[in-house]
Amino acid sequence: MKLLAFAATNSRESLNKKLIAYAGKLINDGLIDDVTIETIDLNDFEMPIYSIDRQNESGVPQLAQDFFAKIGDADAVLISFAEHNGSYTAAYKNIFDWASRIDMRVYQDKPTVMLSTSPGGGGGGNVLQGAVASGVFFGNDVRANLAIPSFFENFDADSGSISNPELDAEFRAAIATLAPTG
Ligand SMILES: Cc1cc2nc3c(=O)[nH]c(=O)nc-3n(C[C@H](O)[C@H](O)[C@H](O)COP(=O)(O)O)c2cc1C
Repeated sequence: MKLLAFAATNSRESLNKKLIAYAGKLINDGLIDDVTIETIDLNDFEMPIYSIDRQNESGVPQLAQDFFAKIGDADAVLISFAEHNGSYTAAYKNIFDWASRIDMRVYQDKPTVMLSTSPGGGGGGNVLQGAVASGVFFGNDVRANLAIPSFFENFDADSGSISNPELDAEFRAAIATLAPTG
């Protein structure tokens, strides 16, 4: 099984990247069998801000096509959303908008787990709720979602793992839903 994983942010020191890295470690340690993980960095997909005029003049940029193709090549997708002012980061939204011009069902019916985290008590729950609720329109087969609140209290930077046992159990259960069924 091929898993495409990314944090929906362009921060180099991203908290959501740390969450994705922890999920990858759990999977590689045996949480799910036979998984190859490709982790992408949204900085590698930076494009001009979407505009209908740019699209009409130059079409959909190659980077958006590459992003869309990576989803197509994967068997499942793992996303951890950073929350900016209650919503997607501009970095993610721009890639998402461009990719949606190829096909609105950007996620191509792939099993998807959606996560979020932030230093605040909501853990990015607003952006996560929005992504989960709208996922049906964009081809996300959302298997599980989980917001990790108060990142610095619940995540141990030294070990790169969730330190709160209850949250850790929820996290492992959410990631495990990516395992192929049947
Ligand atoms: C412009 C901006 C808006 C933000 N808005 C929110 C917010 O609405 N909710 C929240 O929990 N954190 C908010 N934050 C804090 C982010 O959660 C924090 O920067 C976090 O590290 C972002 O995730 P990342 O490190 O994976 O990029 C905001 C940060 C910035 C720079």
